[in-house]
Amino acid sequence: MVSGLEAAVRAALGRVRDPGTGRDIVSAGMIGGVAVRDGMVQVEIAVPRERARAMEPLRAAVEAALRAVPGVLSASAVLTAHREAPPSPAPAQAPPQAHGGRPGAAMLLQEVGAVIAVASGKGGVGKSTTAVNLAVALAQKGLRVGLLDADIYGPSLPQMLGTTEKPRTAEGRIVPIERWGLKAMSIGFLVDQETPMVWRGPMVMGALEQMMSQVEWGALDVMVVDMPPGTGDTQLTMSQRVALRGAVIVSTPQDVALLDARRGIRMFEKVNVPVLGLVENMSYFCCPNCNHRSEIFGHGGARAEAVRLGVEFLGELPLTLAVRELSDAGRPVVLAAPDTHEAAAYRAIADRVWEKASAPVGTAGPRIVVD
Ligand SMILES: Nc1ncnc2c1ncn2[C@@H]1O[C@H](COP(=O)(O)OP(=O)(O)OP(=O)(O)O)[C@@H](O)[C@H]1O
Ligand SMILES: [Mg+2]
Repeated sequence: MVSGLEAAVRAALGRVRDPGTGRDIVSAGMIGGVAVRDGMVQVEIAVPRERARAMEPLRAAVEAALRAVPGVLSASAVLTAHREAPPSPAPAQAPPQAHGGRPGAAMLLQEVGAVIAVASGKGGVGKSTTAVNLAVALAQKGLRVGLLDADIYGPSLPQMLGTTEKPRTAEGRIVPIERWGLKAMSIGFLVDQETPMVWRGPMVMGALEQMMSQVEWGALDVMVVDMPPGTGDTQLTMSQRVALRGAVIVSTPQDVALLDARRGIRMFEKVNVPVLGLVENMSYFCCPNCNHRSEIFGHGGARAEAVRLGVEFLGELPLTLAVRELSDAGRPVVLAAPDTHEAAAYRAIADRVWEKASAPVGTAGPRIVVD
């Protein structure tokens, strides 16, 4: 069923003309996909590969037309290369960038002093927990901190920050949620979390870009980005559209997780993003009753791996009930239990990360070589 807003969105698209052909983009069959949800709109425009670079003004015009539709909170349009582009006699041009790439578009988040990605090659190792505690610890140092949830398919911030508040808009811009001294944004604040997302890949990247370009972040000293697991489109989009200051890689100590950490490090290295260091999470288990320490996964693997790769080892976090319960209850341990060993470990990591991230560019550490 097409909602009223979706009908209005499609009507607005029907009024946009491709200057190249003079036809409107709907009847010309250029609309690859439309997603409308809770006022967020993503549109995919399929263009012949050889015209992709010339299409940027059209893309911008589509976004402007969508934003003018009453009820639209934010909108993004992405260009995708046409699947069956006929062989063209035109001189070869550079192909369009990967999904969501905008030839010639300006870098996003230019008001942020340092954007830091918290990443890993593997799921469930504690990226979100690390990102939230790192962000809060940075804010406790008196810095102006943003926290962006780049995980569109599995956003964690509403739960980990303990709020499902809906952002408001002001002058056509989305105002980030303020929580624990941070400005935060997640797709989970924008759309209903119960309904699974059925967006196509390029539109997912559009939603990620919306959270950077259409959110009123204001001037920030640092932004922590909670990355989804793996080395896919989000990592590519972030490295192409944002001047990332560096990446913090999270790993658990087991060999399998370290393999994925290595893959994550290699990926950032390929796109010229300095790796600020490695954090070992769930390093050892601390029994809440007797304080006995069990090295379930063979503690220390990440430190050894960091040495091997020439990456700084930033610190280790034990597997504790307190971290699990507090982070899943929306109260980061650095804030809820500041006197614990874990909180101190996060603060030390935050100090070191800030030291490296605020140093003049090019001094964040040696570029590493991964074999
Ligand atoms: N040091 C820790 N001690 C205890 N529990 C932890 C610790 N770190 C993370 N957890 C718990 O492990 C689970 C996974 O953590 P988290 O969501 O941060 O991982 P992730 O790497 O972001 O996962 P995903 O790849 O799904 O995004 C959560 O329930 C979290 O509370
Ligand atoms: Mg996560």
